[in-house]
Amino acid sequence: MSGIKGLMRTHNCGELRNSDIGSDVVLAGWVNKNRDLGGLHFVDLRDKYGLTQLSFSNFKGDISILKRCQLESVVRVKGKVQARPEEALNKNMATGEVELSVEELELLSECDVNSIPFLPYGATEATEDNKLKYRYLDLRTKRLQDILKLRSETSLKVRQVLHAEGFSEIETPILYKSTPEGARDYIVPSRVHPGSVYALPQSPQTLKQLLMIGGTDKYFQIAKCFRDEDLRADRQPEFTQIDIEVSFATEEYIKNLVTKMLKDLLPLDDNFNIPVMSYDDAMNIYGCDKPDVRFGLKHLIVTDLFKDTDFGVFKNAIESGGMIKAIFVPATNGTFSRKILDGFAEVVKPYGGKGVAFFKVEKDQATGGVSKFVSEDNLASLYEQVEKREDGTWLFFADKEEVVHASADALRRHLGKELNLIGDGYEFLWVNDFPLLEYDDGRYYACHHPFTMVKEDQLDKYYSDDLKNLKAQAYDLVCNGYEIGGGSIRIHNGKVQERMFEILGMSEEEVKHQFGFFVEALKYGTPPHGGLAFGLDRLVMILAKTDNIRDVIAFPKTTTASDLMAGAPSVPGPEQFEELKIKPIK
Ligand code: AMO
Ligand code: AMP
Repeated sequence: MSGIKGLMRTHNCGELRNSDIGSDVVLAGWVNKNRDLGGLHFVDLRDKYGLTQLSFSNFKGDISILKRCQLESVVRVKGKVQARPEEALNKNMATGEVELSVEELELLSECDVNSIPFLPYGATEATEDNKLKYRYLDLRTKRLQDILKLRSETSLKVRQVLHAEGFSEIETPILYKSTPEGARDYIVPSRVHPGSVYALPQSPQTLKQLLMIGGTDKYFQIAKCFRDEDLRADRQPEFTQIDIEVSFATEEYIKNLVTKMLKDLLPLDDNFNIPVMSYDDAMNIYGCDKPDVRFGLKHLIVTDLFKDTDFGVFKNAIESGGMIKAIFVPATNGTFSRKILDGFAEVVKPYGGKGVAFFKVEKDQATGGVSKFVSEDNLASLYEQVEKREDGTWLFFADKEEVVHASADALRRHLGKELNLIGDGYEFLWVNDFPLLEYDDGRYYACHHPFTMVKEDQLDKYYSDDLKNLKAQAYDLVCNGYEIGGGSIRIHNGKVQERMFEILGMSEEEVKHQFGFFVEALKYGTPPHGGLAFGLDRLVMILAKTDNIRDVIAFPKTTTASDLMAGAPSVPGPEQFEELKIKPIK
């Protein structure tokens, strides 16, 4: 225990060992088990550090108090540490060689076990909703306590590495102005300025750039970000970034810094290096920009191979300018029943896929599915693209490009899991050379955010009308199929920034209203700068090996952005509406 005096106990519940036998100690914690073996009473006392068995054969008080010490009640006990009898030794328990012979017991807080919605260490699983509604009960589990500790240690290590490299941690405002990162803003109405709102930052992007203009040189912040967007297993409406920005930095500096940070956080080799893949390669080979490269089943683009095909699905896709991708699953990785093959259509459906065509190769002969459309030439060409000619299943995706990428990605990930192909380690990847812009609905959007610099050698094109194929000086850090970080070299020239807003279809008025202060700042001497932000939640997910972001956040929200425990969001009272000069729409 800590050297600071004043706690109500002398030891924690995971601490006592043989060497403590004979000592007088005080423990406090939750009742995890309470047994009466025909007059012999035993309690397991629990806290986040472990369990200690209490025995009551030397108890001086009224033993009937134990009846009130229901499970999850909080008690404090004084007594002597003693060895357990031989037959009661428990090798699976850190404190399993000893027990506390209780002399005094104080019931600090009773638990109403008849109405408790679930027991954190109960035999029955609570529903997800109940776990969130009574989060403080779920937090009593070792799993969640371990993850919270891991998260705290991760933040600490990050702070240590960055401090050692000369970074200052600087807080930036939460009540601010729109900082576009592609999501909707959460807004807060101002009482003092009726009709005006603050926007909560989607990230501290403009602020950290202003810190660079302000001469800060090396900034970081463990920053809360707020984004009103569709939620998923790895997305929360408020989440935390390790946000970094550096003046006079090249892409190489940012990447070296990240490599150093990861080496401090994970058990990685000294020669650990993060491979780089272009965005185009990631899309072609994996169908997504955050590929899990821990396993194979790479995509093959086979559109040309089937240009003379009679198979309607392929023919249609080609004629309408689409693409065909294939995945080969060697029989040594797994074989599929007809039912499973037909079921693949369901896997691709959410991504717009209409089906998954297939054929098998058995004893080197194509059979089943669409095999009758596959000539020996086709087959030979298909096998040229994989490691070796062996038996297995060929799967095909034919449609518009986006649908093909997304469907083949979904099925690849599905197969990786189903066929147990995914290793246990950490596989990092830089995805580079992102497109600068996305075109949708007749206008351009920034792929990262509007402060990202175009590739230096494309500046002429940037000012022309031909904006296709512009690439950004942007990079995403991917680990095991998650985008855990992203950043870029920024625009540090006001003219280049104004051109970006123009490309994005913003009028001069809009730019002035939204970003006038920022564009003006660029006029008064701006160091070239760049940075990146890690998703801290996602980083901890990977370290904790969980695929649910809620596990790594003490008080998470549901997929509808609600807090079930406190009941947030909630309807404000009439006087709050009045004060803020806003009216609810009926
Ligand atoms: P970006 O939008 O890529 O970049 O965010 C950086 C990282 O934050 C994490 N992340 C999220 N985590 C949980 N829930 C969310 N809703 C969520 N959204 C993003 C991801 C992501 O890689 N300002 C830039 C960074 C920069 O350019 O320096 C930014 O915010 O892990
Ligand atoms: P059909 O001609 O619709 O009976 O489909 C024949 C096979 O092609 C089935 O195995 C379907 O799952 C598959 N299929 C249908 N649409 C597609 C598509 N867009 N891409 C790949 N395979 C498809």
